Amino acid sequence: AAEAVQTLEFPIPAGVYAESVVSVKHYTDRLFSFRITRPQSFRFRSGEFVMIGLPNAQKPVFRAYSIASPNWDEEVEFFSIKVPDGPLTQHLQKIQPGDTVLMRQKSTGTLVNDALTPAKRLYMISTGTGIAPFASLIRDPDTYDKFDQIILTHTCRDLAELKYGEELIAATREDPLIGELTEGRLHHFTSTTRQTSPVMGRITTLIENGGLFQALGTEPFDRENDRVMICGSMDMLKDVKALAEKAGLKEGSNAEPADFVVERAFVG
Ligand code: A2P
Repeated sequence: AAEAVQTLEFPIPAGVYAESVVSVKHYTDRLFSFRITRPQSFRFRSGEFVMIGLPNAQKPVFRAYSIASPNWDEEVEFFSIKVPDGPLTQHLQKIQPGDTVLMRQKSTGTLVNDALTPAKRLYMISTGTGIAPFASLIRDPDTYDKFDQIILTHTCRDLAELKYGEELIAATREDPLIGELTEGRLHHFTSTTRQTSPVMGRITTLIENGGLFQALGTEPFDRENDRVMICGSMDMLKDVKALAEKAGLKEGSNAEPADFVVERAFVG
């Protein structure tokens, strides 16, 4: 059989996988997702991130990307912002199937089930591309072993930016491997902040005024029943973290699992 041979101009750095783009989907002029082949030896925990780059320079620019696919998936999925002059994303947004993407071999991160103690509910609070690690975690059976109810919240500027999450939830519910586990247990809450829609407002506002809990039929955060994972912009993390702490929740880590964990979504 003929083998596709791609000549790369620069050598692949040590400790880096060179993988092929399988598919690309553009959602808006600011957001796109893509899938790459998964190296046999690549292992990660759902919710972790990895460094991504392009083979277009002697010293490629790498940026942290949360892995959006579950760890049983044969491919690796990412959800990315497009920044017009972003050192990586100005090029990355142009990738096509068959192109090469570089991925460092070691993944890491704090948004992992291991950093939380078990509880009744797990809130996954995201804005923008911050939904990516949760796209992995809601497709991991371990998440359903540890928590009865999984609530994914996603807030974006407009409705078009919520589409990735809507497709994700629909596909997860229908997935032959995980679908059954999600029945009556996986909840999706969305809001927009700039475009008029049925549910509007920043997630911080909706936590503070109780709108989130009212919509879900739950009670405000409480340490006994609730665990929280937070992923979004720097300001969003700071503000949601303050609300979790105000409710008496303690930050957890791998070494010391507790009630909430935070991770910055990739920007720039
Ligand atoms: P807003 O439209 O009011 O800025 P972005 O695409 O800029 O990363 O933003 C994603 C979402 O996060 C937007 O809906 C934005 O609302 C919201 N957001 C930005 N900053 C905060 C914050 N400090 N707390 C909560 N939500 C925030």
